[in-house]
Amino acid sequence: MAIENQNIQAEDQSLDQALRPQSWAEYIGQEGIKKNLKILIQAATERGEPIEHILFYGPAGLGKTTLAYLVARELKAQIKVTSGPAIERVGDLASILTNLSPGDILFIDEAHRLNKLIEEILYPALESRSLDIVIGKGPSARTIQLELPPFTLIAATTRVALLSSPLRSRFSGGTFRLEFYTSDEIKKIIARSARILKVSVDDEAVDEIAKRARFTPRVANRLLKRARDFAQVEKSPRITNELAVNALQMLEIDAAGLETTDRMILNTIISKFGGGPVGISTLAAATSEEKEAIEEVYEPYLMQLGFLERTSRGRVVTARAYEHLGLKSKLDQDSLLV
Ligand code: ADE
Repeated sequence: MAIENQNIQAEDQSLDQALRPQSWAEYIGQEGIKKNLKILIQAATERGEPIEHILFYGPAGLGKTTLAYLVARELKAQIKVTSGPAIERVGDLASILTNLSPGDILFIDEAHRLNKLIEEILYPALESRSLDIVIGKGPSARTIQLELPPFTLIAATTRVALLSSPLRSRFSGGTFRLEFYTSDEIKKIIARSARILKVSVDDEAVDEIAKRARFTPRVANRLLKRARDFAQVEKSPRITNELAVNALQMLEIDAAGLETTDRMILNTIISKFGGGPVGISTLAAATSEEKEAIEEVYEPYLMQLGFLERTSRGRVVTARAYEHLGLKSKLDQDSLLV
């Protein structure tokens, strides 16, 4: 059973890999970032130097990792991939850095989860390509300095404010914020993915999936794959609008793209905290969701829709969210009393 599960996961990952754009021309959206990166790459290549360190930030699923792979591909550089929580010890970082070859790209995902000790060793490595390691303890402790090959760090985070400012200031190649995609861009991404998956999708079905994709390519591709499953089981040669709607309903994704947890978060704020404001830790406890998941996964989209506001006193559900949930807002109720 465990082996079967692993296979399923492996297949899903290789599918995700197949959907990932392989060139700038295939990458839809984030036009400003693409323009900047192309100039950075061309200028550094002409000088025969590695590009300077880069930071990507923004909500999950918008293509930070994809961009890092594209940069590496354009530079014909090797990319080594790791993440903040995977680098637990100073020795882990030392081993990663000393194994780099000249011109390599080191991609660190979830950079906000690097521990402070590791960050402090990273600064000199980024700035002067030297790695200071303390060997031994007490009076016999000594520092050795290792020289590193020229390399580029590409870091990605969903929580830029959590990076220490010395680390943030080391990304002289640029700090780029990925934005939610437009509906048109999401539709183009769905159409492209459908071609790669060799499945036909009616235009109306593309629209329907796009509407509920949270302006996020990763979500759009996930919904497309589930609709494809549905079409296959129904022995339909195409994903029709009806099939797409049925698949989305079964996944309990509503017309605004809200999933069960999004609605539960809004309903909890309304029923237990009178619509807010409520502090994030209180909300996490009341919903049994992790604070980080609320902040990084659910909240950005709810705020993008204008369903939730972040105020200095906590989270507040907006009148628009009440309307979407078919509830009367506090404001409406107050006006009924007048
Ligand atoms: N698949 C995932 N993200 C994409 C993007 N930005 N462009 C094209 N295909 C994608």
